[in-house]
Amino acid sequence: MKPLQVQNIDMVYELPKGGSVHALSDVSFDLDSGRLLTLLGPSGCGKTTLLNILAGFLAPTSGEVWLGEEQVLGPSKDRGMVFQQGALFEWQSVAKNISFGPRMGGRKHKDVLPEVDRLLDTVGLQGFGDKQVYELSGGMQQRVALARCLANDPDMMLMDEPLGALDALTREKMQSLILNLWDETGKTIVLVTHSVEEALILGDMVFVMAPRPGRIEKIYELPFAKRALTEDPRTLKATTEFQEVKEEILGFIWEMEEEIMGRQGE
Ligand SMILES: Nc1ncnc2c1ncn2[C@@H]1O[C@H](COP(=O)(O)OP(=O)(O)O)[C@@H](O)[C@H]1O
Ligand SMILES: [Mg+2]
Repeated sequence: MKPLQVQNIDMVYELPKGGSVHALSDVSFDLDSGRLLTLLGPSGCGKTTLLNILAGFLAPTSGEVWLGEEQVLGPSKDRGMVFQQGALFEWQSVAKNISFGPRMGGRKHKDVLPEVDRLLDTVGLQGFGDKQVYELSGGMQQRVALARCLANDPDMMLMDEPLGALDALTREKMQSLILNLWDETGKTIVLVTHSVEEALILGDMVFVMAPRPGRIEKIYELPFAKRALTEDPRTLKATTEFQEVKEEILGFIWEMEEEIMGRQGE
């Protein structure tokens, strides 16, 4: 059980032609192990930057990230990343994509096959191991991406708009899959989305972020993710309770965007 601690993160990108972008300002939070946090906010508010810092792909300008007793100072298989569609190895089979992490760790593909089969089962792709990536639909490819991430048995899974490229129906199915994975594995998940509905149905904690500089503006602890494990997510999304929070956040993001547009017009 490794809690995540994010302490006073600032990220300033220096631009090659001079000037800089203040992408994150004084971001601090603690996240208990096993939670599902969604990061929601308009484009440019630093969601991807924050995720990359949590992954250790990017060093913050100042501040520290800790996962359990260990400071995040670079990438590690303890922190797995799932990207938007298109980040699989197209030239390898589904099974080889999934065994990639363990193979990098020095194991042989055939020795990992039982685990690969188990993971295919977990993500609902029984029997698809020998297929090529390009033979699969977008939703199936994201199932492979989740399995590839799980193969490293990470403490924390980071997902950057993993369902962003999928059609509405596939997206709903994948939301349920992510909730079930979360429930079954008990892993900490941080998921970026710019869909308010998705943030609310998946996040048992939701951070609404604001831009310029990127920061956490509001924090919600919500019951919907846990409820969606036993109740129909569709019905849940239609409840007054869900709609009220959704409207509140939409209104809030609307105001933020109006303000940004206003500032750009100055
Ligand atoms: N490598 C970079 N160099 C300069 N600016 C960047 C770089 N990456 C992101 N930015 C800027 O930082 C801000 C936050 O970007 P990002 O984290 O991608 O936001 P989001 O994922 O919320 O859309 C944006 O203004 C973006 O243009
Ligand atoms: Mg982004």
